[in-house]
Amino acid sequence: MAAVRPRFAGAAVTAPRALSTPSARLYSSTRSTYNPQDIQNVSHSPDHIQSKMPPKKFLRNANRFREFDMEDRVYAITGGGRGLGLSMAEALIEAGAKVYCLDRLESPPAEFFAAKERAASEYGGSLEYIRIDVRNVTEVNDTFAAIAAQNERLDGLIAAAGINHLQSALEHSQQALDDVMSINYNGVFNSATAAARQMFNYQQKGSILLVASMSGLIANKGMTSPVYNSSKAAVIQLSRSLAMEWGRHGIRVNSLCPGHIITPMVEDVFQQNPAARATWEAENMLGRLAMPEEFRGAALFSLSDASSFMTGTTMVIDGGHTAW
Ligand SMILES: NC(=O)c1ccc[n+]([C@@H]2O[C@H](COP(=O)([O-])OP(=O)(O)OC[C@H]3O[C@@H](n4cnc5c(N)ncnc54)[C@H](O)[C@@H]3O)[C@@H](O)[C@H]2O)c1
Repeated sequence: MAAVRPRFAGAAVTAPRALSTPSARLYSSTRSTYNPQDIQNVSHSPDHIQSKMPPKKFLRNANRFREFDMEDRVYAITGGGRGLGLSMAEALIEAGAKVYCLDRLESPPAEFFAAKERAASEYGGSLEYIRIDVRNVTEVNDTFAAIAAQNERLDGLIAAAGINHLQSALEHSQQALDDVMSINYNGVFNSATAAARQMFNYQQKGSILLVASMSGLIANKGMTSPVYNSSKAAVIQLSRSLAMEWGRHGIRVNSLCPGHIITPMVEDVFQQNPAARATWEAENMLGRLAMPEEFRGAALFSLSDASSFMTGTTMVIDGGHTAW
């Protein structure tokens, strides 16, 4: 059971103590990421890049890209029951992480359990499922607190829970407007703040990736979804604002803007508007839609130490859709 730790108490957040001293090792296997203060104190000898890497493990090819290693790390992924969130979860467990998928599905689909099995048998990571609704702020805060208490740490969050709603602005119901905004914006806000609270509680650094969309940057052809698009623009702006608030405490926040990916969400769109697929493929420089697996690298990069100097940015991975 976890040792007794100070719990977050409402607004009374105090700044964490210094996470390492200037002379400390640049990488701690228990408390994540590089300390820029330390990097300034490293002499630039020819081998200084290696000296800043995470410790070697006794594995074959253990020297390869150790800054991507996630062994002993703990991550939460909202919307991780399926689709993009689940694919990104698999990337983190392959790197050795313990991942909690938080979703409102009563039970995740078979592909989740296949990933869970692979996590245990092949990678040494683990995959857990917890049913929550990201709109319920109490449930979200309690869940993140329980995950952090169980592991005595929380290293990061991917906020991927989201819904789409295809409707013209003049026909858009208030109910649908509330649903989209309360999941896509409020839910992301609730999840990001719940994760950061635990990082403050456990006095650790962390990385948070908010899944927005290229639809937060453009009004994309073939998808009439004014509220969805603006909810995603709000997520992009939220990531910059949180990055500014939490950067000095070692908590990095970035957003991801994917192009169209073949997931259950997009298959719903095709059911309503079968012509959308051809339109989207034509609008894409690669002439095709993405698969969820094509975002594994982005997840691993942005949640690991590999991106230790990246915060407040928007990663656009859209097959060139917004680059014409
Ligand atoms: N598929 C795309 O083309 C695409 C493109 C850009 C961005 N995105 C974004 O990627 C994210 C993942 O989407 P996806 O395509 O995998 O869709 P998806 O529908 O397959 O997955 C979304 C998941 O979020 C969960 N969810 C929805 N509301 C929730 C709530 N209130 N509480 C908890 N969980 C909830 C769903 O149950 C589902 O498992 C979304 O934020 C979406 O907007 C998707």
